[in-house]
Amino acid sequence: MTPLSTDPAARARLRWSAATSSVQIEGSRRADGAGRSIWDDEIAKPGRIRDGSTAEPACDSYRRVADDLALVAGLGLDRYRFSIPWARVQPDGRGPGNVAALDHYARVVDGLLAAGVTPFPTLYHWELPSAVEADGGWLARDTVERFGEYAALVAARLGDRVSSWYTLNEPAMTTLQGYAVGALAPGRQLLYGALPTAHHQLLAHSRAAEALHARGAASVGLVNNHTWVLPLRDTEEDQAAAAVYDLLHNRLFSEPLLSGTTPDLEVLGLPPLPVLGDDLARIAGSIDFYGVNFYNPTTVTAAAAEDDIPFEIVPTPGVPVTGFGPEWPIMPSALRDLLIDLHRRHPSMPPIIIGENGASFPEPDVAGPVEDIDRIAYLSAHIDAVGEAIDAGVPVEEYTVWSLLDNWEWTDGYTQRFGLVHVDFSTGERTPKGSYGWYRDLIAGTRAAEDAEAARA
Ligand code: BGC
Repeated sequence: MTPLSTDPAARARLRWSAATSSVQIEGSRRADGAGRSIWDDEIAKPGRIRDGSTAEPACDSYRRVADDLALVAGLGLDRYRFSIPWARVQPDGRGPGNVAALDHYARVVDGLLAAGVTPFPTLYHWELPSAVEADGGWLARDTVERFGEYAALVAARLGDRVSSWYTLNEPAMTTLQGYAVGALAPGRQLLYGALPTAHHQLLAHSRAAEALHARGAASVGLVNNHTWVLPLRDTEEDQAAAAVYDLLHNRLFSEPLLSGTTPDLEVLGLPPLPVLGDDLARIAGSIDFYGVNFYNPTTVTAAAAEDDIPFEIVPTPGVPVTGFGPEWPIMPSALRDLLIDLHRRHPSMPPIIIGENGASFPEPDVAGPVEDIDRIAYLSAHIDAVGEAIDAGVPVEEYTVWSLLDNWEWTDGYTQRFGLVHVDFSTGERTPKGSYGWYRDLIAGTRAAEDAEAARA
């Protein structure tokens, strides 16, 4: 791919951010009395992590806060997205807040504010305390109230300085990858038996949103992974398979939040979600913004009749791929198309925030100048796609790069580098890549364009 020319007018209308998550960067997993999470349990399963690694020390960010803050400040970001792990705050998933952990995140928040960057924390980036999973995890309705209590504890400590919050990261991935097929923690393989976790997560988000708003939060939202689903062939069977996958990956989560309805699961011969009383009203009224993480489109074809599920995910023909190979096709127009489609389905939706977008590419392990042409091309093409969606009337307000740093990529360990900054995992040394300077300049250019516009007005 070659870099596309990013439209300055579309850029000028966006806020800029970059993201990380706790287990992927922090290390120091037991520091300050932290409890175990389902990712500690996953790491302990023999052969589970592709390169045999652990999340220790990852980028050593729990101890290198100052280094990360300097990188954030150097980019000139409007906001920084980071996650606070539940098991650090409530090691057993219930009870009083762990003061040392809350103090740590207060220091992160203060450091960001001092650098003129708005802190934008995520309360749950896939790290369920092991104690909560032992009680049923997201399959249990009780987890809803427990998550609300955890959110209230964090808000009580940080709510005077943090006004924008993400509650959950990518509930679709927790349901599909965590509980349905087991590619992520907690590694359950329940297939359709996983679907109650979708409702419980949305409800937990709504409880957390209530707790955050009650403590003064101005802007609360959830960020989900969205994909643009393409039928492999233009046949009725493949269109039907694509519709099922779209329902499970996208609509199961977006419709309760944006329309207060649940999609019809009867088409799959499935029981309805475990919705009680005013659940849907609480979910529908719960967001100030809608977060979209986007990485790739998904192409599906109809599965063989005897299969348990009616679709099969296949490589997307005719497009380049990222470091993950055919599993992660590159198609920037898919981001534009899904944003326009989402807005068409929900015309009065709240503002959209792109909470993650990025890609891994094969890179040398050693620190050194990484030109990073592929990442720059990927990011600029996707920012252009966001600009096209804005031109078509979609209310996108913010764009976030995944990720600030190379990091520990879940069950893929250290094999995939997503960072604007190269990290040497044996020394912790950080070396900005070409994409870091490119993003910094893009942000600065945007500000200059805004200033020029303001001077003309
Ligand atoms: C997750 C990140 C992850 C990224 C790349 C997103 O689904 O939120 O934690 O590293 O994708 O796989």
